[in-house]
Amino acid sequence: MTVFIKNASEILTMTDGIGVVKNASIFVEDGVFKQIGALKCPQECLTIDAQGCVVCPGFVDSHTHLVFGGTREDEFAMRLSGVTYERIAKAGGGIANTVKRTRTATENELYHIALKRIAHLIRHGTTTVEIKSGYGLSLSEELKMLRVINKLKRDAQIDIIPTYLAHTIPPKVKRRDYVDCIIKELIPEITQKKLANFCDVFCDKIAFSKKESERILLKAKGCDLKLKIHADQFSNSGGAYLAAALKCVSAEHLEYTTKGAIGAMHRAGVVPILLPGVSFFLQLDKKPDIKTFRKTKSAVAIASDFNPGSCMIYSMPKIISLACFIYGMRIEEALVGATKNSAQALALADTIGSIEQGKQADMVILDVDNYKKIPYQFGEDMVKYTVKKGRIIYGKDR
Ligand code: NIG
Ligand code: FE
Repeated sequence: MTVFIKNASEILTMTDGIGVVKNASIFVEDGVFKQIGALKCPQECLTIDAQGCVVCPGFVDSHTHLVFGGTREDEFAMRLSGVTYERIAKAGGGIANTVKRTRTATENELYHIALKRIAHLIRHGTTTVEIKSGYGLSLSEELKMLRVINKLKRDAQIDIIPTYLAHTIPPKVKRRDYVDCIIKELIPEITQKKLANFCDVFCDKIAFSKKESERILLKAKGCDLKLKIHADQFSNSGGAYLAAALKCVSAEHLEYTTKGAIGAMHRAGVVPILLPGVSFFLQLDKKPDIKTFRKTKSAVAIASDFNPGSCMIYSMPKIISLACFIYGMRIEEALVGATKNSAQALALADTIGSIEQGKQADMVILDVDNYKKIPYQFGEDMVKYTVKKGRIIYGKDR
């Protein structure tokens, strides 16, 4: 199977910065990039006219909570009248609210709702998505969520990376008992059934302490799960230092992370994942320290954090805009963050995240003639085609 992407105005290869190649074409064979440059189609093949368009690696959304029951627009309305996310959580809303709705949904219901959400991701150019569990909060319910994520992984048109998330302590359960259940029952069962690639912990004052997070992550590491951590979102919890000490693949959120912890993460090779959609959605004042990330030359990734409480944004082009508007990231930093660095945050940099010979042919063709318009034309539906392993999985004029 061969595909020719003809005459793109710009190809963003993501090699050496964003690696713009102007007025060029791409030849794809058997789902892999074969040639990039001023080419003529070497043989009869499916041709996509990319004249006047930017071609970019498919977006990698490296942090989502895409599987859940119900929605929380009532809490959204409460927040608009001044109640904070943390106060709603303490009063039994927030994550606990979604846990109730997820537990009452069947596997089949969760699967079909999530499949619809994945169709939205594809329309917005995402070709790989990480999905966390974390709304079950018991052995059987977390396993149920992970089975749904794994069924989606088998059936969806894009790659799905499953993560077990120790999200928070369930209502009416003692902290110590739940942490023991995670360590003695959940993680061994997940490992034995091969239900997740990663283990993640929400290390913050409304969830697990640094000590509890360390116990959970050490167990996961011993079971050969790769590690992620939700760190320093609402307070300086020490999560980023823990990520460095345990050499987590990534640390996510990082609003309260200090300069010292940013340096420690960088030295330990931890990829920071920033989630500007959450800052926008929750209208948070505290922002990650972009200047220090830049100074340390950290490979910063950005992702949507799609979830019912703190970000209902499917679109990575919108997340790219928000990274620029809200975090002051440069356009090039945001674009590399949504592709190459996000692939690195999922330990997939060898196969996806850039347009290079031999890599998987995941692409998005955007209806703009230069890359600066991607964040600039905020909110515009600019994805013309989404291509996964050389196959068109979304096309506006098809
Ligand atoms: O990443 N930080 C914790 N968890 C989610 C929010 C989950 C929810 O509110 O349902 C997040 O923002
Ligand atoms: Fe999250």
